[in-house]
Amino acid sequence: MTIKVGVVGCGTIGKRVADAILLQDDMELVGIVANSWNYKVQAAQDKGIAIYASMHLMSKADPTEQERVLPPFHHMLREVDIVVDCTPKGIPEQNRSWYEQYNVKAIFQGGEKANIGQSFVAQVNWEAAVDADFVRVVSCNTTGLCRTLSAIHKKYGIEGVHATMIRRAADPWDIYHGPVNAIVPHLVVPSHHGPDVRTIMPDVDIFTTSLSVPTTLMHVHSVSVDLIDKSATVEDVIELFRNTTRVRVVSNADGIRSTAEIMEFAKDLGRERGDMPEVCVWTDTIGGWHNKIMYIQAVHQESDVVPENIDAIRAMTMPHMGQMESIAKTNKSLGII
Ligand SMILES: NC(=O)c1ccc[n+]([C@@H]2O[C@H](COP(=O)([O-])OP(=O)(O)OC[C@H]3O[C@@H](n4cnc5c(N)ncnc54)[C@H](OP(=O)(O)O)[C@@H]3O)[C@@H](O)[C@H]2O)c1
Repeated sequence: MTIKVGVVGCGTIGKRVADAILLQDDMELVGIVANSWNYKVQAAQDKGIAIYASMHLMSKADPTEQERVLPPFHHMLREVDIVVDCTPKGIPEQNRSWYEQYNVKAIFQGGEKANIGQSFVAQVNWEAAVDADFVRVVSCNTTGLCRTLSAIHKKYGIEGVHATMIRRAADPWDIYHGPVNAIVPHLVVPSHHGPDVRTIMPDVDIFTTSLSVPTTLMHVHSVSVDLIDKSATVEDVIELFRNTTRVRVVSNADGIRSTAEIMEFAKDLGRERGDMPEVCVWTDTIGGWHNKIMYIQAVHQESDVVPENIDAIRAMTMPHMGQMESIAKTNKSLGII
C-alpha cells in the first residue's frame, strides 16, 4: 500500500522531509504547500514536486506571477492520507482545524506545544504513535537527548540526568537571527528541553540548562547521567552507543574534534545537503565515575528529525509495520547507520 503524503511549509525541515518521502517506496509525495515563492520552492518544483498555495498566500493582495497560478492548500488536503506540517511555531495550531475538517492525519514539529499531538521519537516510544491522528516529532535537541538517554536507561536504568545544551545561533541560511558576538544563557531553569524529554521518557528525572552561541553548525550537549546502583566502564558505553541506531561515535583519532569537522565528514560521505541525521558522540568525552556517565554529543539541527518524521508516517498509517522494520527501512533509504 502506498500512503499519500503532503508537506506543509517548504523551509529547513519541510524541504528535507519532502525529499526523504520521495525516497520511500511505500509513500507518495502529493505536494508541498508554500507560503511565498522563493528559491526553496523553485528547487522543489524543479524536482517535479507539485506546489500548492497556503491560506496566507491565497489571500495576498499582490501575488507574483508564479504565486498566482498555484492551486490552493485544500486541494492538496483532498488528495492526501496524512500531512507533515513543517510551518513555524504557532501556525500548525491554526492549520489543525483544516486537517480535522478534511479528515487527514497530521504530524507536527518540535516548535509546537506538547498538547498538539502525541510526542514521538521512533526508537523510544513507537507504540504511542501507532494509528494516532496527531503526532508531534519533538525538537532536534529533545530527539538527540532521547536517542542516547533511552539506550542508557534500557541497559542500566537512570536515576537522574543533568544536561546543558549549547545551541547554534541560527540555521546556516538564516540572516536574521543571532547572537553574532555573545554567549547567551537561557535565563530560565530548567530549559524547556528537560520537560520535553519527559513527554517521551516520563520516568526519567532530567534537569536541563541551555545557552546560545555564535555558530550555525550543530548543537552540542554536555550530559551527565546518574545510574541506579550501577557503574559502567567507558568501553561499555562506547559499545552501547556503537550498537544504538541513529547514534554515531566519533573521535579525535579520526580527526573529528569539532562540529565543523562533523559537517565536513557528512559532506565527504556524500550525504544529501551535507546532512548528519545521526547524533554524534565523541568517544574521547565519555567518562565513568562512581555511578555517573558523562559524555558530549553533537546534534545536526537541520536533519536529525527527518527520519523521525518518516517513521511517524508509518507508525500512524501502517499499523502492521513494526518499529524496527520501519527504522531499518528509513535508515537504508537515507544512508543512516
Ligand atoms: N530548523 C531547525 O533547526 C529545526 C529543527 C527541528 C525542528 N524544527 C521545527 O520545525 C518547524 C519548522 O521549522 P523550520 O526551521 O523548518 O522553519 P523555516 O525554515 O522557517 O520554514 C518554515 C516554512 O514554513 C512556511 N510557512 C510559513 N507560514 C506558512 C503557512 N501558513 N502555510 C504554509 N507554509 C508556511 C515558510 O514560508 P515563508 O518563508 O514563505 O513564510 C517557511 O518556508 C518548527 O516547529 C521548528 O521548531 C526546526
